[in-house]
Amino acid sequence: MNAQEGQIAPTVLLPGDPLRAQHIAQTFFDNPVQHNSVRGMLGFTGTYRGKPVSVQGTGMGMPSAGIYVHELIHSYGAKTLVRVGTCGSYQKDVHVRDIVLGQAACTDSNLNFTRFQGLSYAPIADFSLLMAAYQRAQARGFAAHVGNIMSSDIFYQDDPQSFQMWADHGVLAVEMEAAALYTQAAKAGVRALTVLTVSDHLVTHEVTTAEERQTTFNQMIEVALEAALG
Ligand code: ADE
Repeated sequence: MNAQEGQIAPTVLLPGDPLRAQHIAQTFFDNPVQHNSVRGMLGFTGTYRGKPVSVQGTGMGMPSAGIYVHELIHSYGAKTLVRVGTCGSYQKDVHVRDIVLGQAACTDSNLNFTRFQGLSYAPIADFSLLMAAYQRAQARGFAAHVGNIMSSDIFYQDDPQSFQMWADHGVLAVEMEAAALYTQAAKAGVRALTVLTVSDHLVTHEVTTAEERQTTFNQMIEVALEAALG
């Protein structure tokens, strides 16, 4: 990243898509200034209700997101990191457009297998952020689920039923970054949370329109910002 030291706020929202970062900055921030352009991975800093806040695209998957999370924490002093993105639901009662708050994250990645020398680590969200996000969603009447999620290295699975094992153990939904974020944040002693909207459904194959996705996307950003800065 080519941001100057001190240019990025201690609180950072993390969408995978850099154009989503731009949308978030333009829609929710006052006086947004672009702080990163390297690799087209746009990042912006501004204020939300008078408080400094940044948004930084991370790309898809844990190797990419892990680089941005590392630099934000260790080069720019980030203290609160909230991933915002989409997920695929594993559960019949977790519907398309609902919000999922990732309390913990399983993974099929070798990332933590390597880091923990073949032993198992349970990456979890920061409880204060999780509670604040849930309370905000409840207060606004947004459908929100709290629970385990799956951070996968594979978007297009060969076996369409391979998710069943996770579903049978109560995992709510699949995405591709949270386990790395939670692990790196824990190691650095900073706060992290993942706030998702359900974009696709592996059980019911429900679909959603672009307009509906935009509405729920904005609800998710409100929940993330209020939890992180409220
Ligand atoms: N993000 C949104 N939908 C997903 C899926 N089905 N698998 C992985 N990540 C996702």
